Amino acid sequence: MEPTRNRLIELLETSDYEYVSGQFLSDKLHISRSAIWKHMKELEKDGYIIEGVPRKGYRIVKSPDKISANTLHWGLKTNWLGKNIIHKPTTKSTQLIAHQAAQENAEHGTVIIADEQTEGKGRMERRWHSSKHKGIWMSIILRPSILPSAAPQLTLLTATVLADVITEQTTAEAKIKWPNDLLIDGKKTAGILTEMQAEQDRIHYIVVGIGLNVNQTSDEFPGIINDRAASLKSATGEDQPIVPLIQQLLLKFERSYDTFMHHGFSKVQTKWESYGYRIGETIRIRTNHKVLEAAFTGVAEDGALLIETGEGSQKIYSGEIEWF
Ligand code: BTN
Repeated sequence: MEPTRNRLIELLETSDYEYVSGQFLSDKLHISRSAIWKHMKELEKDGYIIEGVPRKGYRIVKSPDKISANTLHWGLKTNWLGKNIIHKPTTKSTQLIAHQAAQENAEHGTVIIADEQTEGKGRMERRWHSSKHKGIWMSIILRPSILPSAAPQLTLLTATVLADVITEQTTAEAKIKWPNDLLIDGKKTAGILTEMQAEQDRIHYIVVGIGLNVNQTSDEFPGIINDRAASLKSATGEDQPIVPLIQQLLLKFERSYDTFMHHGFSKVQTKWESYGYRIGETIRIRTNHKVLEAAFTGVAEDGALLIETGEGSQKIYSGEIEWF
């Protein structure tokens, strides 16, 4: 992020849509008035609508609903998450960029976001369709001081944040399908891919990848996933402004993460269970040896699915469950 431009946006923002004089900006930023003018032109390229009136100064009339480090920073209320934003108009996968950046010591809370991914990665080597300007394709770099075995808790946390944001920002009702698929009306709307670099007892960094379908219409999903995928728009019929959605997501993520770090997993667990798809119902699970029917009761601290059979409570780990 260009520090001067960031500061310029801050100065215009704090003036709350009032005019700010070119002289004032030039004094504050220690640059000439013509340099200020050039920065304004750059902001306009980013989609800001700026009004410049002789002898009064400049004011922001409208900030754009176009993803850039600038537009995301403007109005972002987080303390640490997204202070460093890397935005790519197009990239193979934000996960790749995140790993690279993390290995080059990118700070905790760095966010990588793209308008489009050409090789978006899903779980289990699947592909994640990430069409241009239609969704939130984002990776967050975290450096938590927790044991590697606790990392799945962060995935569950992320799922609850997504469910909260969808519920609060739209008229849709979100459910979390274990372990971490976000569903609306039974259709997948968002997914999470958590990857980490760790030793036995120490995490170097975690990359939490979030894909949220926002403004696709139902016929815009590729044929094979067409009947199983949804977006906020396809579910609600309404276009969703993307920048405020990302800002909300980041703010909620930061709050939830801070609570988790200070007070542990229990709040996340309760929240997850409140959104759990088919929780409380009898489900059928296929293990290596047999198919069993059991009541789905919740999630465990280690991210496992908790079931209750006639023989008592049991934990189920990834890959062993089928939803009939
Ligand atoms: C899944 O449900 O299979 C997980 C999907 C995760 C997709 C996101 S989009 C941003 C980040 N970059 C990727 O290539 N994948 C994740």
